[in-house]
Parts: sequence; C-alpha cells; structure tokens
Amino acid sequence: MLFGATGFTGRITAEVMTRAGLAPVLAGRSGEALVDLVGDLAGLGPIDAPPTWQAADVTDEASVRSLVTSPEDVLVTTVGPFVRLGGAAVDAAVSTGCAYVDSTGEAPFLKRLFDDVHPQAAASGARLLPAFGYDFVPGNLAAVLAVQEALKAGRSPAVVDVAYFTEGPMQMSSGTRATSLLLATEPPLARRNGRVVEASPAVATFDVAGRRLDGLLMGASEVFCLPRVAPGVRDVNTFLGWAGKQTRSARRLQQGLAAARAIPGLGGALTAGLSKAAGSRTGEGPSSEDRAKARTVVVARTSDGVGRVLSQVRVEGPSPYDLTAELLAWGAAMLLTGRDTGAGTLGPADAFGVEALVSGCADLGLQRVA
Ligand SMILES: NC(=O)c1ccc[n+]([C@@H]2O[C@H](COP(=O)([O-])OP(=O)(O)OC[C@H]3O[C@@H](n4cnc5c(N)ncnc54)[C@H](OP(=O)(O)O)[C@@H]3O)[C@@H](O)[C@H]2O)c1
Repeated sequence: MLFGATGFTGRITAEVMTRAGLAPVLAGRSGEALVDLVGDLAGLGPIDAPPTWQAADVTDEASVRSLVTSPEDVLVTTVGPFVRLGGAAVDAAVSTGCAYVDSTGEAPFLKRLFDDVHPQAAASGARLLPAFGYDFVPGNLAAVLAVQEALKAGRSPAVVDVAYFTEGPMQMSSGTRATSLLLATEPPLARRNGRVVEASPAVATFDVAGRRLDGLLMGASEVFCLPRVAPGVRDVNTFLGWAGKQTRSARRLQQGLAAARAIPGLGGALTAGLSKAAGSRTGEGPSSEDRAKARTVVVARTSDGVGRVLSQVRVEGPSPYDLTAELLAWGAAMLLTGRDTGAGTLGPADAFGVEALVSGCADLGLQRVA
C-alpha cells in the first residue's frame, strides 16, 4: 500500500515499485489523480494487470485505517509534513500490527515514533521503519561502517558525527520545502552522554574528497537508533550541509528563530507564518534530467572521548529523491519477505542487520567510496 502516491516522492516511488514488480495499491486523497497515475504507470512493470487504487484522506482517519487490514500488509507513506499529516498512518499500522515505512526527515516525528510509539508498536507486532530515504539511511550506513572500522583497528569510538551533502543541482520538492519551513523554529536534537537532548545550534566542518565543507546540526534517526548497533557510542550528532557557504549564516538564523520561539505567543505565530509561506502546492520537484545530475554524498566520522578522529567513511549514491524512492521500495520488499526484524520502531541497521543493509544499499548504487 503506497499512501501519498500522487505526490512528488510518491509518484517516483510508485514508478520504482511498479518496475520492480511490487504492484503496490496506490493510495491518496484524490481519486481523479490516482486514476491518472494508474494510466501513467500502465506497461511500466512486469505485471500485466493495471495497478489498483484506494482513496484515503488523513482528515478522515477511518479511510486511512482501512488502507491496512492484516499484519502481513506493508504501508509505505510519503504523506508529509509528517508532524502535521503523518499520525493517522502510524496509528493504522500500530492498530493492525503491520509493517510501515515512511519518508519522514522530521526529528520531532522521529522522537514521537522512537520514544512514545515504540512500546505500543512492539506490543502490537507492528514494525515501523521511519526515515527510510535520503533522510536518513545513508548516514546510518556510513556511521555503522565507520564504527566497525574503528573497532577493527582496536579503538573504541565514543562520538559519531554524520553530515549530509549533495552534489550537482539541488532543487527542493514541494514537500521538502513545506517541511523545512514548518520545522524551522525547532531546536536540533543530538545524543549526548547517551541521552537524546535538544541541543544548541552548531556548525561542524568535514573533509569531503579534499574539500572542507560545513554542516548545520539538525536531528536525525541516527541519534535514536545508532546505539542499538554500536552500544559504546555515547554522542551522536547529525549535520546538514545543504546551505554550503551560507551554513554559518544559517546557524545565526537558527539561533534567532530559537530565541523568537522562546517568546510566549511568538513561536506559534512564527511557525504558522512559515507554513503559510510554504503554500499548499504538492507534486512539485526537480525534473528527472536535473535529478540525474545530482548525487547523494554523506560522511560519518568517529572520534574518541577527547576529540581524536578514529575513522571516517564517505558513501555516495543517486540523487536524494531517486534514492528515497529506491530505498522505500527496497525497505517495503524486505518487510514483505516476512524476515524477522523484531517489532517496534526500527532503524535501518537494527531492522535488517548491517550485512543486509550494506548489500541492499549497494544494489541501489549507494555505497562506500572512501
Ligand atoms: N526522507 C527523505 O529524504 C525525503 C525525500 C523526499 C521527501 N521527503 C518528505 O516526504 C514528504 C512528501 O514529500 P513530497 O516532496 O512528495 O511532497 P508533496 O509532493 O507535497 O506530497 C505530499 C503528499 O501528501 C499528500 N497529502 C496532503 N494532504 C493530505 C491529506 N489530507 N490526506 C492524504 N494525503 C495528503 C499529497 O496528496 P496530493 O497528491 O493529493 O496533493 C501528496 O501526495 C515530505 O514530508 C518530505 O519532507 C523526505
């Protein structure tokens, strides 16, 4: 079941799934747009029958609940911003006890899933795999490889810093834009001394193929799930390098927004204003030609307790949007095999194991280059 199929990321995911013969049921709020999509997908995949579709709108929770009916179902959702629109799909998966994969990149939503929903999901047998796209699979992959490398050299990494970059033209989709503006006033989340905390805005510099690139602290799934596969790690920080040379100005803006958020009444008004500025258009994003020129570049660096770097790994892969679609399809296919992942809210490495993650990602063109 692919919910959000008519959106920008949903449509690319529907194409990837159809080509792979996964035959998803296409779900979305507009029957008309779904019928058009069914027509566009005709003949793309190895299966002769046209895709089926089902209407569901998050403002009508029963319609979302009816998307999944059995614990064998896999619900993939790209309906975001998730803090605003994602709750109904999670509730549906948890009450059915089925598998769920999403494209969120939103730290507050991840906090809800890893901290609050995890026990309910574990009890119902639901397997929740959030942030299974560019956000945040490459960082989890690079981080486990960097930790393994340090351990192999007999060192004990205590700190892992991950940074997300892109190369080539990078235009945001309508959903990425809406989500970034909605969350602009949220503080970054980091793991410090074993606990996930709200951190102060910060910038870190990374060596990336001979260049020194800055990233701005954010919040990501590595912060929640990396210690499950690397128990010695005490601190986890994830940085976003999309602002390039403007990263330090972006930190000052983040500090200003954090200060404004603390003023009673102003935070809510600011978030509402930024959300309004994002508009309500959906389905927009970079063309396939522009995406073909873009690359995912993510680094992970480990250090010991006193700041000595122990290892660094860089992974590269297809453009962020294509990678997201490929990963959502791969994650869904893995969950459909019924392999034992354990139940609850899962990270990429603890769900499938490091070996399967490394080889699955390599098949999609996401792999270690340094
Ligand atoms: N993890 C990553 O690396 C990554 C990559 C890409 C995107 N994302 C995230 O994924 C989300 C979607 O991004 P996008 O670019 O695909 O955005 P988009 O094109 O704006 O898609 C949003 C989707 O949500 C649907 N929607 C909106 N309101 C709804 C409602 N009331 N009920 C049901 N569906 C509703 C839209 O339906 P209509 O089609 O009918 O308008 C559309 O399918 C965003 O949160 C974005 O940040 C993350």
